[in-house]
Amino acid sequence: MKKVIAINGSPRKKGNTITLLQHALTGAADAGAETEEIVHLYGLNYKGCSSCFSCKRKGSGFIGECAMKDELSPILKKVMESDIVIMGTPVYLGNITGCMQSFMERLLFMNGSYSGQGFSNYKGSINVGYIYNMNASEEMTSQFGYDSLFKWHNMFGQLILNGKWEYMTVNDTYQFDDYSKYDAGGIDEQHKKEVRDKQFPIDCHNVFEMGKRLAKY
Ligand SMILES: Cc1cc2nc3c(=O)[nH]c(=O)nc-3n(C[C@H](O)[C@H](O)[C@H](O)COP(=O)(O)O)c2cc1C
Repeated sequence: MKKVIAINGSPRKKGNTITLLQHALTGAADAGAETEEIVHLYGLNYKGCSSCFSCKRKGSGFIGECAMKDELSPILKKVMESDIVIMGTPVYLGNITGCMQSFMERLLFMNGSYSGQGFSNYKGSINVGYIYNMNASEEMTSQFGYDSLFKWHNMFGQLILNGKWEYMTVNDTYQFDDYSKYDAGGIDEQHKKEVRDKQFPIDCHNVFEMGKRLAKY
């Protein structure tokens, strides 16, 4: 049975990211995969890569492993024991969140190779599903150049983890329970509601299907 782990890169435990991750996990379970509880990165005490290079240093005993020891260490181990990892993040300032970036630095860099024999020291393969969600509309996503970041993760991630890498973008997300409580006159609440009620359920279905596909590859 294939093992799936999901990683929440949002500080919110009841936001868009978590909802999307839950649908992706349900899709994977529907295809027969074994799923675990979602990991909330913001609940963990850890840092990004410290550039110690133990994962590349001869005789360090850490080739292909991260030598930093903190609350991310058991999560990295779990990811490396999984067949599929589903990551979800909001877009913050045109990027993934800081916690997600630190997680990816650790996960991808520890497996990366400088040996000149391929890009990866990892001999297995892990399939990845990546969900990016954001306030921006679909048109703004390409206008602001966000999609080049998503494509870069896709290309680099496949070289390091050797598996399939799919990503989905979810736009125009609903940000507050009640817009009237916020100074958010620049946001068209009616439009947001329409997207939440019509498009978001489609997005949830699409990530469900992605979870299913990832479990079947
Ligand atoms: C600090 C911060 C920065 C943000 N920056 C962007 C941004 O650059 N582009 C964008 O489209 N949305 C931005 N957003 C909106 C979030 O990406 C969006 O609301 C997302 O759906 C939140 O996901 P969540 O509900 O899982 O927390 C930002 C939100 C916050 C809190």
